[in-house]
Amino acid sequence: MPDLSRRAALAAVAVLALSACAADPEPSPSPSGEPATTATPTPTPRATSSRSSSPTPEPTPEPPPPPPLEWDIDSGASLQAIVNKRRPLNPPDYAPQLVAVSISQDGDELVRPEVDAALVALDQAQRAAIGEGVHVFSSYRSYATQSSIYQGFVNQYGQAEADTTSARPGHSEHQTGLAVDVVGTSGVARLSVAFGGTAPGQWLAANAWQHGFVVRYPNGLEGITGYEYEPWHLRFVGVELATAMTQSGVQTLEEHLGLPAAPDYG
Ligand code: DAL
Ligand code: ZN
Repeated sequence: MPDLSRRAALAAVAVLALSACAADPEPSPSPSGEPATTATPTPTPRATSSRSSSPTPEPTPEPPPPPPLEWDIDSGASLQAIVNKRRPLNPPDYAPQLVAVSISQDGDELVRPEVDAALVALDQAQRAAIGEGVHVFSSYRSYATQSSIYQGFVNQYGQAEADTTSARPGHSEHQTGLAVDVVGTSGVARLSVAFGGTAPGQWLAANAWQHGFVVRYPNGLEGITGYEYEPWHLRFVGVELATAMTQSGVQTLEEHLGLPAAPDYG
């Protein structure tokens, strides 16, 4: 676990990288980058009889059991895409359809439409609970932006250290438009592991699932996720999957979905 001064230094690198990238125009979202349809299955309708002349009523068939919930974890377009060190974004330069973030933010933050709607609800719920809203300081990143950020970490700390905190381009959830880095609107403990101990950090860890988000890189699970604790990094997966993961009692998507751990790039 790095100390806070190193975290602050890493944060400075990230900000510099982001600033550098801000001057570069982002590529337009691909027209093929439509958001995924939800993986929640459509209920199978009950079978009905069209024979009205039958003298005896037919027994009502039992409805079939609901199909198992299944998620498309492979396509970059899927809201449930699983991206880690062992599972690159598919395709690596996937460009989602994006909208501007509606809540408090640094500026020019972009996410998938489903994520923005969920952020609005999350912000309202957090304000109602603790009197402080959600502020977004990082969101969608193009392949080029992620590449620049990662290279900034490598240049300053070397690749091994960079890999503990920044994803290589083609492997970042931020490229999906489904991940956001957040802090409370007070700004306390921004981009710091200390955020996990603040009121908004604790509220999000306990409640974000109700709005479809999970804290993607929990404390002490680098051996599974590949990254050190990031209490600020929320990943939208939809209410159904976030709820199921919370109910299952595990803290990572890899464990909940039975996927191999992704401690490194293999
Ligand atoms: N900090 C996370 C792992 C990213 O770079 O996507
Ligand atoms: Zn993040």
